[in-house]
Amino acid sequence: MTIRAVVKGVGHYLPERIVENSEFETTLDTTDEWIRTRSGIERRHFAAEGETTSMLAIKAAQAALANADLMPDDIDALVVATSTPDLTFPSVATMVQSGLGMTRGFGFDVQAVCAGYVYALTTANALIVSGQANRILVIGAETFSRIMDWTDRSTCVLFGDGAGALILEGQEGTGDISDRGILSSDLNSDGRHREMLYVDGGVSTNGQSGKLRMQGNPLFRQAVDKLTQTAHTALAKIGLADNDVDWIVPHQANIRIIKGTAKKLGVSMDRVIVTVQDHGNTSAASIPLAISVGVDQGKIKHGDILATEAIGGGLAWGSVILRW
Ligand code: UT7
Repeated sequence: MTIRAVVKGVGHYLPERIVENSEFETTLDTTDEWIRTRSGIERRHFAAEGETTSMLAIKAAQAALANADLMPDDIDALVVATSTPDLTFPSVATMVQSGLGMTRGFGFDVQAVCAGYVYALTTANALIVSGQANRILVIGAETFSRIMDWTDRSTCVLFGDGAGALILEGQEGTGDISDRGILSSDLNSDGRHREMLYVDGGVSTNGQSGKLRMQGNPLFRQAVDKLTQTAHTALAKIGLADNDVDWIVPHQANIRIIKGTAKKLGVSMDRVIVTVQDHGNTSAASIPLAISVGVDQGKIKHGDILATEAIGGGLAWGSVILRW
């Protein structure tokens, strides 16, 4: 018997405040045209003062529970992918647990920066397949606006805040690729590239939360090859060719990376979910946000094969293949 982690519900939440590119023109030496052409970003959402990552996560989780027609206590576990927790500890997941009114189960955070959601899906899948939990809320939630250096035009125009959530449920499958649910994954990291994307503060370094630092261009040059390779590896594990996918759901960092990866995989852009123009880079939240928007737009349908792929600080990168 094969147990598959099948998607039961999906939802997302974006903070109310929308910031257009033009707003940055008043404080920085930048233009809407530069941001749009170099990154594909047109606007992003920023959390309000006092609005924390767990608050965004709770709203996304409530939307996913409503979508699945489930109650909080129907959930066995919470896995939250984030690099911008409310506090150093406890985990955002336990804050979401109490915020939802859950009185049972367990929760913890996963930190793999922009690749966090593929790591979280892979972890949740392992918990379900091994019988540790049957229904898991897998949330990606971030408030990257809190770690921006607002004087650094090369980073602060690129990121945004938001949260997305899927509910996975263990169901019996046949063991072949006709099954719904998570079919394969591929995870990678290479700590030698730490300088390309990091935050210059931390608990045991200087006791501060720090600001994001990025060498955008060297990272850009790594991204397309690594994303193509990881999606290809995850698909090959289950005997699928690159262009067998119905939808690529990429991490939304830069439209040029998204297009370059789709081209290398041989998938046309009308089969790629793109939200970068409206959300900016929301790190671990970008993939569940894009899935949720893709479902709301009527693009992602029952039975479709989705290939998610992401890369970020670490470097860490990976891909999860699932049938919707
Ligand atoms: O989510 C984690 C993964 N993140 C990524 O994968 C991000 C990867 N990197 C990127 O998306 C792109 O590298 C960026 C969008 C960050 C930058 O695009 P680029 O085409 O690589 O530009 P660049 O860094 O080579 O910079 C080109 C020029 C520079 O000026 P000079 O040195 O040529 O005179 C920058 O100083 O653009 C300048 N620049 C800006 N100009 C106007 C950098 N930021 C800005 C800005 N407005 N906001």
